[in-house]
Amino acid sequence: MFKVTIAACALLIATVSATPFRDCGSTSTLTAVRVPGCEVLPCIVYRGTNVSVEYDFVSAVSTNTLTTDVKGVIGGVSLPWPGRFPPACEDVKVGDCPVAVAEPITMSTLLVLSPAFPSVNAKAIWELRDDSDSTLVCFEVTVKLL
Ligand SMILES: *[C@@H]1O[C@H](CO)[C@@H](O)[C@H](O)[C@H]1NC(C)=O
Repeated sequence: MFKVTIAACALLIATVSATPFRDCGSTSTLTAVRVPGCEVLPCIVYRGTNVSVEYDFVSAVSTNTLTTDVKGVIGGVSLPWPGRFPPACEDVKVGDCPVAVAEPITMSTLLVLSPAFPSVNAKAIWELRDDSDSTLVCFEVTVKLL
């Protein structure tokens, strides 16, 4: 009974803290996206801060490397997200590189919101790619930069 209660609570917390997203062609099973404090879209984010974007997926492939590629779409124009992302294997929080088939992975990637960014509504298109540059994970989240 106690265990059931704990499991139910854990499930509730996991549900409440998840961020809604649109899947844009993940080939692996993307199960959750978490942007801190964002449970409804658009995510309100503040320029001059850093946001840890977390997501969980079960890999459909094996890969030695992972690459993060984020685009921002502003007024219909798609631009690379300014700044460089470290090799994404450094962002693996649960699991490890090389990634095995069916391995559950949790990623935690720092998104730097420069104070120089304009204050706009944008759509972030977040992709994670494998060794052969194929998309493992793709999700879209609308953001309001304040
Ligand atoms: C955000 O992250 C960058 C790169 O790690 C770091 O240089 C900067 O100081 C961080 N900014 C804040 C507000 O934490």
